[in-house]
Amino acid sequence: MFRTQRRISAGLFLLVPAVASLVLASCSHQSKLEKAAFGKTPDGQDVEVYTLRNAAGMEVKIATYGATIASVTVPDRDKKMANVVLGFKDVSGYTAKTNTSYFGASIGRYGNRIGNAKFSIDGKEYHTPANDGPNTLHGGTRGFDKYVWSAKEVSGDNPAVELQIVSPDGDQGFPGMLTDTVRYTLGPDNDLQIDYSAQTDKPTVLNLTNHSYFNLAGAGSGTVLDHRIQLSADKFTPVSETLIPTGELQPVAGTPFDFRSPTRIGEHIEENNQQLKYGKGYDHNFVLNTGGDLKKAAAVVTEPTSGRVLEVFTDQPGIQFYTGNFLDGTNDGIGGKFQHRSALCLETQHFPDSPNHPNFPSTLLKPGEQFHSTTIYKFSAK
Ligand code: GLA
Repeated sequence: MFRTQRRISAGLFLLVPAVASLVLASCSHQSKLEKAAFGKTPDGQDVEVYTLRNAAGMEVKIATYGATIASVTVPDRDKKMANVVLGFKDVSGYTAKTNTSYFGASIGRYGNRIGNAKFSIDGKEYHTPANDGPNTLHGGTRGFDKYVWSAKEVSGDNPAVELQIVSPDGDQGFPGMLTDTVRYTLGPDNDLQIDYSAQTDKPTVLNLTNHSYFNLAGAGSGTVLDHRIQLSADKFTPVSETLIPTGELQPVAGTPFDFRSPTRIGEHIEENNQQLKYGKGYDHNFVLNTGGDLKKAAAVVTEPTSGRVLEVFTDQPGIQFYTGNFLDGTNDGIGGKFQHRSALCLETQHFPDSPNHPNFPSTLLKPGEQFHSTTIYKFSAK
């Protein structure tokens, strides 16, 4: 169980004000949770960062701005630790105007795209901001990634923090007041579990995900083209030029989208293929075979030099595999400049533009319903 450490005497506390970070620790488990300052937003709001540590030494930092995964430090096959997600040392990197990449952020209300920035519920049309050509991307011009969330530690056997945002009716054009809660729990087996829950007071649509950029050799260590990926998907959702699904579920067999056995990411990425051209590489939703079973891996990524392995488990029907095609070295973060294809995203999700595709699994949430979804990023080395 976690409990606030109260053993620091008042005198000692005065001597070490710099160590003002609150330690919520369990000595028996050697896992712990700490809170520290992470800077201020341009409009002067305080941002905090929680550090979750397990007994194996894995460390995850969660910032209250965007409920963001700011770093994930895990061992390689020789027990050498490295941070394997792109992020910044404090909030200024996240709020910079040049950051258009959603590094590590909790995305809402609607992850990925809504075609032509509109959709209908019960015959009524709703308009959301067109912030990606004609489409709405990742919740609009000010999605949940651009807010400071309220946060609290969660007591239990494993270090956990819960963040919440309340989005008013009509926010970015979406109907209903929506409460979105994201809980991060670090397990003993180097597994980071993300639990999403949400409620609304009017029928609405939602698609919640996390936008972490992984490089298993360590953030800033070159491209991910030599990483191997396996996706449990027989089909993907092909897209139009503006990355809106056509509505088809296309078999991956015989295409550069066949990752049913482990494949080097760079193997086919430069092939002359219209879908790869539209995505400028991989930026596509895969239709998962896992049927929502959290015990079956949706994705497995391995990095040969470090031996690090990332397994992704989710109850969601899809996963966006994105190879950092829009990264161009503009953002300078932990580990250096974030270059073209220097990381990959595995955004567990409902399919893009679902509100406009009745044949896709529904993203509708009604008043009185409790939305819940889980994704686990599990790290190991071999
Ligand atoms: C998602 C999209 C990409 C890109 C990134 C952010 O993964 O599918 O096209 O917009 O977010 O840069």
